[in-house]
Amino acid sequence: MAEKTRDLIVVTGAGGFIGGSLVAELRKRGCKSIRAVDIKPFEQWYQRFDDVENLSLDLNLKENCETAAKDMQEIYNLAANMGGMGFIEHNKALCMLSVLINTHMLQAALKYGVPRYFFSSSACVYNGDKQKTFEPPSLKEEDAYPALAEDGYGWEKLFSERMCRHYREDYGLTTRVARFHNVYGPWGTWYGGREKAPAAICRKVIEAKLSGKHEISIWGSGTQTRSFMFIDDCIKGMDLIMRSNILEPINLGSSEAVTINQLVDLAEEIGGIKLKRSYDLTAPKGVNGRNSDNTLIQKYLQWEPSTPLRIGLERTYRWIYDQYQARERGEAGVVRESAPIVS
Ligand code: NAD
Ligand code: GDD
Repeated sequence: MAEKTRDLIVVTGAGGFIGGSLVAELRKRGCKSIRAVDIKPFEQWYQRFDDVENLSLDLNLKENCETAAKDMQEIYNLAANMGGMGFIEHNKALCMLSVLINTHMLQAALKYGVPRYFFSSSACVYNGDKQKTFEPPSLKEEDAYPALAEDGYGWEKLFSERMCRHYREDYGLTTRVARFHNVYGPWGTWYGGREKAPAAICRKVIEAKLSGKHEISIWGSGTQTRSFMFIDDCIKGMDLIMRSNILEPINLGSSEAVTINQLVDLAEEIGGIKLKRSYDLTAPKGVNGRNSDNTLIQKYLQWEPSTPLRIGLERTYRWIYDQYQARERGEAGVVRESAPIVS
């Protein structure tokens, strides 16, 4: 992160993966006034710290957004109803309702004169017609238009990106928007239905290894392509973008594309096991191919997410392995629903 210490920062979605990791990093940086907000009851936050102001609030409601924004200098809006393909394909209305969170947070930021606002958009805003090929298309920022976003979740993100732009242009609020490409790492959701491919595949390999049933079920043909960004790169990129003069929504993702079969190869290699693969062609698949074109972020920041997938996946695998075993032992306080308060 940039060296300057900042104070009075709100992180919404702080009980989740990226929000919790951001709060952890801000604390490490010595930031003194952090307000962490999430709808979940505290005991369900993935990471929670007792030296920050923790609020359990439903940010769909305008008055709660005002409580969150009051007297603060920066807002990182990471709250949304989200998940991997298994979740977003079956919860389109719920995903679109996140529009209330961003809209009310923008209104609250304006009301209380919060100078800077970050919105976490997604690669799901990109036009589906440009992601039909399995040979991974590198998506440039302009490929969001003409618009044909991922049904439900992607349209909400695209609309909210535009709300950020209009609040900047019409009311002078400094807004910054990053389009995250599939983020993974320790503290990410790894079971329960919202998990994305990297965590799901690690969990399935661990399950197979520990159960002795050496089989794995993969959604789709395994030839789908994606790039996966390690959480540390995501946190660094958010900070750089927030502090930059970049006005338009910008890709924040790795450009190391792999097939889902290659992702499974890596997880097997880390786990030291080979599994019999079966392919569930009826499972949610999303687009056929997607990669992040990082020309623009390189131009603006002379930086791009660069943690090799092999390195990030190994750290993630080991973390999930520990969580898995703790859950098997019935140890509360280690599994994510009851993550210990770290101070
Ligand atoms: P996450 O599900 O772990 O965290 C989101 C948090 O938002 C959850 O803890 C949830 O309880 C909270 N939330 C939902 N509705 C709320 C409400 N009404 N009021 C208050 N809090 C509410 O997800 P994440 O991976 O940490 O994602 C953070 C942000 O980044 C989201 O906006 C997501 O859409 C975006 N994003 C993530 C990825 C990724 O791969 N993780 C990719 C693209 C975009
Ligand atoms: N989740 C999951 N679980 N996906 C699997 C599995 C599995 O066990 N096996 C194979 N896959 C395949 C999916 O079918 C899909 O083709 C690919 O892996 C990637 O799936 P996800 O990681 O669930 O989602 P995504 O990359 O299509 O979209 C995600 O990333 C976006 C940003 O790039 C979602 O999390 C979106 O919410 C997010 O915005």
